[in-house]
Amino acid sequence: MTSDQLVQAALDTRLNAVAPYSNFKVGAALLTSDGKVYTGCNVENATYGLSVCAERVALWKALSEGERTFTRIAVASDSARPASPCGACRQLLWEFAGDIEVILANPRGQTESYQLAALFPEAFDGRFLLKA
Ligand code: THU
Repeated sequence: MTSDQLVQAALDTRLNAVAPYSNFKVGAALLTSDGKVYTGCNVENATYGLSVCAERVALWKALSEGERTFTRIAVASDSARPASPCGACRQLLWEFAGDIEVILANPRGQTESYQLAALFPEAFDGRFLLKA
């Protein structure tokens, strides 16, 4: 699975977004260590606050199928500049996927690539639950 293919999966999945309130469609494609892809789109609802981001849908799908190790995620939206994951998704990706590559994309062919550690430095995670 190339980066281009992963970006295309995220772009395709964004079209499934349930985003009648924001009209901002996002797709994510999460790659496992053994090459499987789990996709997700944002799903909004009338309370607004219970809406879920594309990245978390992809992550929950993968975890619930037993996947535990990941290498890369592509996130696609229609932003002029490719949009970056929200803070909550950064936290959850960090905890469950670690320092993966995060590729941001839009349909104009623009992409940006980061390591998650660069997007989310000095993160709180399970290591801090160990008391002195
Ligand atoms: N959203 C995502 O799905 N992922 C992101 O990385 C940023 C924001 C969603 C949440 C909401 O449904 C809509 O985009 C507008 O914020």
